[in-house]
Amino acid sequence: MIDHSTVDRIFGAAQIYDVVSDFVSLKKRGTNYIGLCPFHNEKTPSFIVSPAKNICKCFGCGKGGSPVNFIMEKEQISYPEALRYLAKKYNIEIQEKELTPEQMAQHSERESLLTINEFAQKYFAGILHNNDEGKAIGLAYFRERGFRDDTILKFGLGYAVENPRDSFSKDAIQKGYKKEFLIKTGLTIDGDNYIADRFRGRVIFPVHTVSGKVVAFGGRVLKKDAKTAKYVNSPESEIYKKREQLYGIFFAKQQIVKTDCCYLVEGYTDVISMHQAGIENVVASSGTALTSEQIRLIRRFTSNITLIFDGDSAGIKASLKGIDLLLEEGMNIKVLLLPDGEDPDSFARKQDASEFITYINEHQTDFIRFKTQLLLEDAKGDPIKRATLIKDIVHSISVIPDGIVRSVYIRECSKLLEINETTLYEGISKQKKQRQVPLTPLKERNFKAAESLSANTNADLQPIAFIDSPEEREIVRCLMRYGEQKFHVGENEVSVARYIIDDLEHDHLEFTNSLYKLCIEESKSFADNDNWNAEQYFTQHRNVDISSLAADLVTDNYTLSNMHRRREPNMKTEENRLHELVPRAVNEFKNKFLAGKRKELAGQLKTAQENGDSDIILALMREISELDKIKQLFAKNLGERIVTK
Ligand code: CTP
Ligand code: MN
Repeated sequence: MIDHSTVDRIFGAAQIYDVVSDFVSLKKRGTNYIGLCPFHNEKTPSFIVSPAKNICKCFGCGKGGSPVNFIMEKEQISYPEALRYLAKKYNIEIQEKELTPEQMAQHSERESLLTINEFAQKYFAGILHNNDEGKAIGLAYFRERGFRDDTILKFGLGYAVENPRDSFSKDAIQKGYKKEFLIKTGLTIDGDNYIADRFRGRVIFPVHTVSGKVVAFGGRVLKKDAKTAKYVNSPESEIYKKREQLYGIFFAKQQIVKTDCCYLVEGYTDVISMHQAGIENVVASSGTALTSEQIRLIRRFTSNITLIFDGDSAGIKASLKGIDLLLEEGMNIKVLLLPDGEDPDSFARKQDASEFITYINEHQTDFIRFKTQLLLEDAKGDPIKRATLIKDIVHSISVIPDGIVRSVYIRECSKLLEINETTLYEGISKQKKQRQVPLTPLKERNFKAAESLSANTNADLQPIAFIDSPEEREIVRCLMRYGEQKFHVGENEVSVARYIIDDLEHDHLEFTNSLYKLCIEESKSFADNDNWNAEQYFTQHRNVDISSLAADLVTDNYTLSNMHRRREPNMKTEENRLHELVPRAVNEFKNKFLAGKRKELAGQLKTAQENGDSDIILALMREISELDKIKQLFAKNLGERIVTK
């Protein structure tokens, strides 16, 4: 953990021009700099760096933000990693925060396991390159498979000798690594009166986390006739949860972002061969069905994924089930079937990257169509199988969150399955209904708009999730751009921040979007501070979700012209109109809230009527009529504070 004052020093030191110019060649343009965007491919520069605001922003793809945002995006690293990067760049010594003894023990156990794995990775690589057995067996094997030396080095491949059976463990212990931790990583197996190496006589594939730490190993046998399993893998441990890792993600992430697409293959060698061929946006689930954790990991970088299957892969049908998960998460999924007898590894060795990519683009089909066709073939002439198949497809479509996408699939499947669309729609709405949460009792219902944040708050896996609300966004934009500026409300002068906070509080309204809500919270301690600079505060905020949002919002519309040209007539007008702008933004939010509430209640009323629940029906009708009164009043007095709970 990096302590607060160090974080402050890093933020204080990091200058956007310095940081960006390590990656982008910048030309001066007025008070700003301009260059080719590092986040997407472009020929004319649209990436602007503003030293005055200490932010950067691409007007093509929208990416940018504070120095920390930039480094996180550019290097695809986490917040603390970006801080460490900047600390190094500015020679700031990192003061680690004091940990409680408990945290320390846990922290140091994790650290110890990671250190051991790092040692082991180097050890096995050393054997591969320097040891006689390693060279003659391991290195020869990789070369025979066509792996180049740079590829072998990049992926940190290695070799573990066959005998003596404890040769790695003994060396490690002699170097001072604790037996207890060696056992916990799974590298060492604890017999009662002996220890042995888990990996023996195998080539070694280290498994890297998204930030490049080695958390596990896979060891492949070399003998064709071997009676043991083809792969031995590290067991689960404090640092290795199989369901959270994807092989290759560390090496793939930048290219995934750049191409906005990720290929998913089955195994270690598929990833490596495709990389070597020049296709780097590829990861493997390592022989198991994809988990939701892995999907979320991919979704941090893209929502487009193409599953690549061997032509004769037995695993296709088994893996279909897991794919509903991907659909549910709103991922855009395509499937590519390779020609018979090929796997990604063999196929990549036969052609160069552009040929392979062309092949993918020409032969991939969207998932629902793929699944339908596959199952149709299976169900030929068997009406019962066919019925099951339809149910299955209907289920897949029903989990897709986007209504438009759903209807496209419905149309397509209706053709493929020769069923009319209405029947499919009915099936889908039935499936959806079955999944719906039951109506909460009236007493427990809450007048506040629903908080949609998912329960999963694992920060490493998920950025702050939110429903976007344009009305809330506009309020936050006013807050970020003009928070400290004052305008007149009747006789009184009030700051933008103060107005927004008080007005929302008065009506007991809260934002639905948790990030926007947080921005309002953050401004509470500054709303009455005359020296506050809201724009600077938010764009350089320690919470990177906030600073990145701020960079977006302060460069919206009006500032666009500001950053491009020197004159800023539009912005002037907006600043002079705060007395209209801000109250209107807040009122539009309230109006939307009321409309949403009305709809929600109407929906609940309908369900209650279907269920014949007379108490609830009455109560809901009362609520609705009250709400309608408020709405009427509100429409008449637009601009006044009348929404009450
Ligand atoms: N796998 C495993 N244990 C096994 C078999 C497979 O963990 N006994 C995992 C590995 O991650 C492997 C992947 O499933 O990479 C795919 O299996 P397979 O295609 O058999 O292995 P490849 O790595 O492609 O090996 P090769 O091409 O050398 O046969
Ligand atoms: Mn293979």
